[in-house]
Amino acid sequence: MATPQPRKILVTSALPYANGPLHLGHMLEQIQTDIWVRFQKSRGNQCLYVCADDAHGTAIMLAAEKLGISPEEHITTIHKSHVQDSAKFLIEFDNFHSTHSDENRRWSEDIFSRLKQNGHIAAREITQAFDPQKQLFLSDRFIKGSCPRCKTADQYGDNCEACGATYSPLELIDPVSALSGAVPIEKASTHFFFKLPEFESMLRDWLDSGTLQSQVANKLREWLDAGLQEWDISRDAPYFGFEIPGEPGKYFYVWLDAPIGYIGSFQNYCDRSGLGFDEYWEQGHDTELYHFIGKDIVNFHGLFWPAMLHSAGLRAPTSVFVHGFLTVNGTKMSKSRGTFINAATYLDHLDAEYLRYYFAAKLSSSVDDIDLNLEDFVQRVNSDVVGKVVNIASRCAGFLRKGFDNQLTDNCSEPELLQAFLDSGEAIAQLFEAREFNKVIREIVILADRANQYIDEKKPWVLAKEEGREQEVHEACSTGINLFRVIMTYLKPVLPAMAEKAETFLNCSLDWTQLKGALEGHQINKFKPLLTRVEREQVDAMVNDSRESAPAGSSDNAKAAAVNDGDSAEIQFDDFAKVDLRVAEIVAADSVEGADKLLCLTLSLGSGQATRQVFAGIKAAYRPEDLVGRLTVVVANLAPRKMRFGISEGMVLAAGPGGEEIFLLQPDAGATPGMQVK
Ligand code: MSP
Ligand code: ZN
Repeated sequence: MATPQPRKILVTSALPYANGPLHLGHMLEQIQTDIWVRFQKSRGNQCLYVCADDAHGTAIMLAAEKLGISPEEHITTIHKSHVQDSAKFLIEFDNFHSTHSDENRRWSEDIFSRLKQNGHIAAREITQAFDPQKQLFLSDRFIKGSCPRCKTADQYGDNCEACGATYSPLELIDPVSALSGAVPIEKASTHFFFKLPEFESMLRDWLDSGTLQSQVANKLREWLDAGLQEWDISRDAPYFGFEIPGEPGKYFYVWLDAPIGYIGSFQNYCDRSGLGFDEYWEQGHDTELYHFIGKDIVNFHGLFWPAMLHSAGLRAPTSVFVHGFLTVNGTKMSKSRGTFINAATYLDHLDAEYLRYYFAAKLSSSVDDIDLNLEDFVQRVNSDVVGKVVNIASRCAGFLRKGFDNQLTDNCSEPELLQAFLDSGEAIAQLFEAREFNKVIREIVILADRANQYIDEKKPWVLAKEEGREQEVHEACSTGINLFRVIMTYLKPVLPAMAEKAETFLNCSLDWTQLKGALEGHQINKFKPLLTRVEREQVDAMVNDSRESAPAGSSDNAKAAAVNDGDSAEIQFDDFAKVDLRVAEIVAADSVEGADKLLCLTLSLGSGQATRQVFAGIKAAYRPEDLVGRLTVVVANLAPRKMRFGISEGMVLAAGPGGEEIFLLQPDAGATPGMQVK
């Protein structure tokens, strides 16, 4: 059989903002990407992984100002911390650059001039809110005032957290600049726009090409259906970024040069290593390009970026791989609960590979959120990795050392079993390729169970005490070691450091492409512990540290803030008493045409009461027919809300991060529909 040509693959993960330390949400993405990259390399493909810091924008400029340092100084410090944290999580970047670099400036200018030459840039004057004191245009998030609809005070310039109204910042009642407290004025200036609507048909083709996850393609189609708008790609001085050539005082918007940062980082890598750049970014080559990103930045990577590349005559990504958000213990990461965990704080207490394993065990190709349940984390790592995988080696190693000088036998007693382990490699490889890491782990744990079962059946500890059965002990333990070798080879992309220790122990490299037959008559080394158990106390200490070290309101980054505010403010008893919770019977449950996540429930609140229709985002977790007849708890006095699919008259109570992991609350037997919950 001819060996297939190695593929040439370029991979990126999203560029973290150079505005604060990496947290476990970032690590989820980098670990997912790194496992995939290491897998590709282990299969003999040429795979390069580049990333960079996203160093531009108003938030970074203001953060530096607050610290009393220059933005350049600020991003240099952050860059160092990002590089360090990623390295300790064993993220193997081929290059980690910065968007504030010469390469990125050149490419941003070049791509912008190509877009302009192709007639895809428009210039026109727009009016925006302006802080007369700071002499700065204010984006929506930097303006606060009272909601024009419900009059609630202290709302941001884009929408009201109390009533959900959306509006423009200039409609706020008594608006003030969040930066200076000054009353914003209206001011006009010229902006540059990328003519996105001209790419509609090209984008439809790209969405229909089938390379994107279907949930992602559907979301993007919704945006196309709603009508594409021209995209504002410029900002006025003062701004930390690249000045637009020939347009003094105008800067590229951070999201223009951020994805170009992928190219900039790769250019920097090529210049240092001598690799040919064009093969990866020009059209018409058979190299592959993948971007790993979180679900919050899909529009930039799924619409703006491919359109820009197209206009600039560069290649399109082969695909964009989108993951969901990390929750901890079922809710958004929260500073007061100590679950907003920075990468460095984790590393102060725990081994990086615990988290790599746990994330792998939870990650799939879906965009559903992923929960780090700290109790489950301790339990899974200890039971799977230490209790099952490492156990295979440690159970066999002692006998081999004592009786056989660490030399494996010449004939493996169970060739079929070993062959079955080797044969499962293709299926496991396909799961890795498809980013179904949770299924990879499931397969590997099944193999580990079989290996342990084999050793249990052979009972070398019994045989070793019996006269004349040395050979059986030798064969059983040698087979165990061979099974361990196969398992560790499959696990190597997930647990590279542990695999390295296993390589020293096994005295051979764990090379997937060379994985054939058995190690026979082979000398191994003294066994040393490969991974120690996680202790609950370490996790508690990490949570404590996260609670203490979290700088209050440290984040100028809207997203970090959004992830942070998972804590609800304290309420008074009277507030609680206003909520009318009732037991309800689900009398009908139906899917909702056009809604991925919703079920429409018909609830009975007791005889004599009209039934109610409630929409609930539980479709991924429940089959409608299984719900009929069940009791649950409903907020009965919630004002009816108009949703896209109809009116929702209440809300059912459920717990969990979402997606498949959502659990409807159910009262104990004896409760009947209509009873008030107290
Ligand atoms: N700078 C932009 C990306 C530019 S890419 C050309 C950005 N930066 S970020 O620091 O906010 O996020 C970087 C990546 O981390 C994004 O893919 C984002 O989705 C991901 N995550 C940030 N918080 C996350 C979680 N809590 N959970 C999972 N991923 C999250 O966006
Ligand atoms: Zn309001």
